[in-house]
Amino acid sequence: MDSVSDKSLEYWMHRALQLASLGEGRTSPNPLVGAVVLNKRGNLVGEGFHARAGAPHAEVGALEQAGKEAIDGTLIVTLEPCCHHGRTPPCTEMILASGLKRVVVALEDPDPRVSGSGLHRLMQEGIEVVTGVLQELAAEQNKSFLHRVSTGRPWGILKWGMSFDGRTALTNGVSKWITNETSRDWVHSLRGTVDAVIVGGGTVRTDDPLLTSRGKSTPEPIRVVFSRSLELPSNARVWDTSIARTLIAFPKETSEDLLESFPEGFEKLSLPSCEPIQLLLGLAKKDCNSVLWECGPRLASLAIKQGCIQELAIMMSPKLMGGVLAATPIAELGFTSMSEVIKLSRYELKAFDDDLLLRATLL
Ligand SMILES: NC(=O)c1ccc[n+]([C@@H]2O[C@H](COP(=O)([O-])OP(=O)(O)OC[C@H]3O[C@@H](n4cnc5c(N)ncnc54)[C@H](OP(=O)(O)O)[C@@H]3O)[C@@H](O)[C@H]2O)c1
Ligand SMILES: [Zn+2]
Repeated sequence: MDSVSDKSLEYWMHRALQLASLGEGRTSPNPLVGAVVLNKRGNLVGEGFHARAGAPHAEVGALEQAGKEAIDGTLIVTLEPCCHHGRTPPCTEMILASGLKRVVVALEDPDPRVSGSGLHRLMQEGIEVVTGVLQELAAEQNKSFLHRVSTGRPWGILKWGMSFDGRTALTNGVSKWITNETSRDWVHSLRGTVDAVIVGGGTVRTDDPLLTSRGKSTPEPIRVVFSRSLELPSNARVWDTSIARTLIAFPKETSEDLLESFPEGFEKLSLPSCEPIQLLLGLAKKDCNSVLWECGPRLASLAIKQGCIQELAIMMSPKLMGGVLAATPIAELGFTSMSEVIKLSRYELKAFDDDLLLRATLL
């Protein structure tokens, strides 16, 4: 009988997923991957994870740690091993050289350069391959990567802070601060898990946000200012690129002259048109798997209409702000019957002191 039972395969896959999560916010355009190696007696002899794009793959670290102990052992890895020469050599060849007997995988790699051929290569050489162990958890962990590979666009989270009566600003535009410090601290952590944070020009003019994770993640996400007019304040805090990258995205017909008086250091992204979907295609080319939209209602509704939002993160504060003309999170979506409205799924609620966080999926 094999010394590693199916139950313990799940146990070790949980450990591999935990290791994978250590790379969160740093591996794009690559996925999160974690790996463990068990020797032939089923004892843990190696662990590894993909720490950032360009760094060794998870399997490499785990197999290097295991050394000769890998002979006749088992590799447990959250994603199918690669079989192509990318920035690093193919992991399948290292696995074959290591003397492993079995490879256990949670998820097939949808990257067209791999997509089953990594597993095929291993089976061809007589390695026993087990797939689908904790597949759903692994897919959830890598949902941004999977979404970007299947659609060509980063996974989009739309975040807003609002009062219990659904207002995101007072009638005079004031929105600081609706939510409490604990909620805002959580938003900083959320920024640390994504590759880019997007706001429109209006939010820069009104709120002058910093948009960083406050050092919770290195590197910081790219701060993206999406503007049609480029009529932006030249002294906004977001132009300080000593703390994080800043990218100004604008349609190609807008003259760049207005940016001449800006401090140096920001990047420019000229788009074929001023559409959220074009912005996302541009950000995917800049290696983004995930983006956080922290914009106001007009841009939010456009992003929703164009399928750019997959998930919501709503911070709700027990306050009544009132005002028929006060801003609400999303502008007109054009629905005329309740059968057309967007239905949310998989929602969860969490308390941050007296604030509530509601997360939901749009898919
Ligand atoms: N409570 C919250 O969570 C929260 C979060 C964010 C903002 N806010 C509030 O929301 C208000 C700003 O709202 P907003 O809707 O103006 O948000 P926004 O985030 O500034 O988005 C609108 C801006 O996006 C740019 N844009 C780029 N492409 C566009 C397109 N195709 N169509 C329309 N706009 C496009 C435009 O910038 P240009 O004008 O530069 O061309 C436009 O003014 C502020 O009062 C702010 O305090 C609240
Ligand atoms: Zn690899």
